[in-house]
Amino acid sequence: MKLNADSKILLNSGFEIPRLGLGVFQVVAGQYAKNLIMDAFKSGYRHIDTAKVYGNERTVGEAVRQCGIPREEIFVTTKLWNSDQGFDTSISAFNESLKQLGLDYIDLFLVHWPLEDVRVDSWKALETLYEGGSLRSIGVSNFMIDHLEELIEQSSIIPAVNQVELHPYNYQHRKDLVEFCQSIGTQVEAYAPLTRGQRLNDQKLVKKAEKYGKTPAQILIRWSLQKDFIVIPKSANIDRVEENLKVFDFSIESTDMDEIDHYNEDLIVCWNPAEVV
Ligand SMILES: NC(=O)c1ccc[n+]([C@@H]2O[C@H](COP(=O)([O-])OP(=O)(O)OC[C@H]3O[C@@H](n4cnc5c(N)ncnc54)[C@H](OP(=O)(O)O)[C@@H]3O)[C@@H](O)[C@H]2O)c1
Repeated sequence: MKLNADSKILLNSGFEIPRLGLGVFQVVAGQYAKNLIMDAFKSGYRHIDTAKVYGNERTVGEAVRQCGIPREEIFVTTKLWNSDQGFDTSISAFNESLKQLGLDYIDLFLVHWPLEDVRVDSWKALETLYEGGSLRSIGVSNFMIDHLEELIEQSSIIPAVNQVELHPYNYQHRKDLVEFCQSIGTQVEAYAPLTRGQRLNDQKLVKKAEKYGKTPAQILIRWSLQKDFIVIPKSANIDRVEENLKVFDFSIESTDMDEIDHYNEDLIVCWNPAEVV
């Protein structure tokens, strides 16, 4: 599989998303974060994943605007927070995110969570915004098959992306969802791809990493890429940010991919959307 740091996936909007991005959940807004993000861009990252609820949109926007790289070369995702869901409030929240970021457009705006009763109205607001030009692609996050079926039935645009918790420790548990997304042309984006660090010392994984002369984190990221997922590992440490990008000079053999596919423990390290009706 030929993959490199510039590899992208075509979304159903016609725009491309870089396969590997930097997640900035729990990266505290401010000068340190701004420098970290600008250093990440220098290292080769071209994709950043934030959200209103992370409280760092302003910092992300400053880094994007001041890094010296043309705006159109950087892909920025942000998300609609739960307290803003509903039609009118989603429109206002999008405009507020755009203002916080200080950008002319957002590459990808996601409904952060399939909030009961209002998620379809929120989605319809995103469809309206999508027609407006300040938003290149729209998608969802934490949507399970039932939630996606409901959207498809009640609206007209298929989400470009579904961002969900995905790593080898829950892959079997999420396989039906992955296949469903692929069947409707929705790209799967893996969040918490490093299990928030919870399985980086798993001996099976450590041994695989030794075999390839890589770190456990690099094996998990490379696994995601070879599964055709978009992947957004987070680090607030520049050495680890750079380490996480060094995944394009090796590939995991298919027998090892099969083994890693079965590390499953139904592990959920974040919130569990399967509980939302
Ligand atoms: N849509 C959603 O509901 C949702 C939910 C969760 C996450 N996300 C997105 O997905 C991104 C990633 O998920 P996540 O932040 O939850 O978890 P993650 O990327 O799986 O793990 C992050 C943790 O791993 C550590 N780490 C990073 N690189 C490492 C390396 N090379 N070696 C050892 N440890 C390493 C980080 O510590 P240091 O920072 O100290 O390096 C941090 O503690 C988030 O930042 C966010 O953008 C979305």
